[in-house]
Amino acid sequence: MLSNADLSSFIDTSDAWIRERTGIGERRIASETEVTSDLAARAATAALADANVDAASIDLLVVATFTADQPLPSCASHVQAKLGLAPVGAFDIAAACAGFVYGLAIADQFLRAGGASRILVIGAEILSRVTDWTDRTTAVLYGDGAGAAVLEARPAESGGVEGFAIGSDGRYASSVFIPAGGSSEPIGALDLAPDRTKMRMQGKEIFRHAVDNMTSSTLTALERAGVGIADVDWFVPHQASERIAVAVAQRLGVDMARFIMNVEHRGNTSSASIPIALDEARRDGRIRPGQRVLVTALGAGLAWGAAVFTV
Ligand code: ACO
Repeated sequence: MLSNADLSSFIDTSDAWIRERTGIGERRIASETEVTSDLAARAATAALADANVDAASIDLLVVATFTADQPLPSCASHVQAKLGLAPVGAFDIAAACAGFVYGLAIADQFLRAGGASRILVIGAEILSRVTDWTDRTTAVLYGDGAGAAVLEARPAESGGVEGFAIGSDGRYASSVFIPAGGSSEPIGALDLAPDRTKMRMQGKEIFRHAVDNMTSSTLTALERAGVGIADVDWFVPHQASERIAVAVAQRLGVDMARFIMNVEHRGNTSSASIPIALDEARRDGRIRPGQRVLVTALGAGLAWGAAVFTV
């Protein structure tokens, strides 16, 4: 656990500033020996046990992450081996904080088209490895973690994804980015400054786009599902910031009591944040079988989305 007080000991910030601007009090940091596929496999094992399904019955694996163990192969390859899955299709999605919502949309389409019948969707990140710990404008925001869900083909009346909306606007690609490590600036140059491999962010710009696009994609997903805001039991936004969630809730006219938040204890874990929040709310009894849940996120890309489903 890394608290705001811990951060204040090595960067110029304070518990009061971080709480007021983001709602974050602490975040979890992976141990030095852990890699992202370890976290992903652990979350997947818990999800499989919770769903009471055998790993051998999974016929598609989707991992949302931008902090894979290596640039090549996919994180999904490592997770597949760790879980001992059959040689089924396995791939990563690069949609940053929106990755889990994209994963739900992809899984839903595979299930409807008959391309798979039981799909494991995982969001997993070790953001601490791509955080610039000297930059107070980003270092206070991020944490590490993983969450997972099992989706399976069922008759329409027994729930599942009822509607989704995903979007992206590449004109804002430099709003959140990591400069080096890809084809534009390959790693290897001996003179590469360490901060070229860490996240850079235009916080205010993202804030505005997050509120706009999380709100509009929520409304589109609900419209496609043929349900209204009043029909949703729980809203689970990407856990980037309490202020963003409050602004989205205000735009939607929804009381914050219907928003599930854990950003205070986990920080922003990107693609992992929604499945972690879902898991916590199911375990503590807030989200119950048969209820309708709306998830929405925005992150680097900029990429965003929303999905509405019943559990
Ligand atoms: N501690 C203390 N002071 C700080 C800190 C800090 N950690 N960070 C910035 N400040 C200072 C700034 O330097 C600035 O000082 P100045 O007025 O003297 O220039 C002042 O606080 C205000 O800074 P702003 O950037 O204007 O603060 P803002 O209210 O915009 O909050 C924040 C910043 C929290 C980053 C906000 O913009 C935000 O939440 N943005 C969205 C971020 C996000 O959602 N990212 C998710 C995408 S990431 C992904 O996809 C991986």
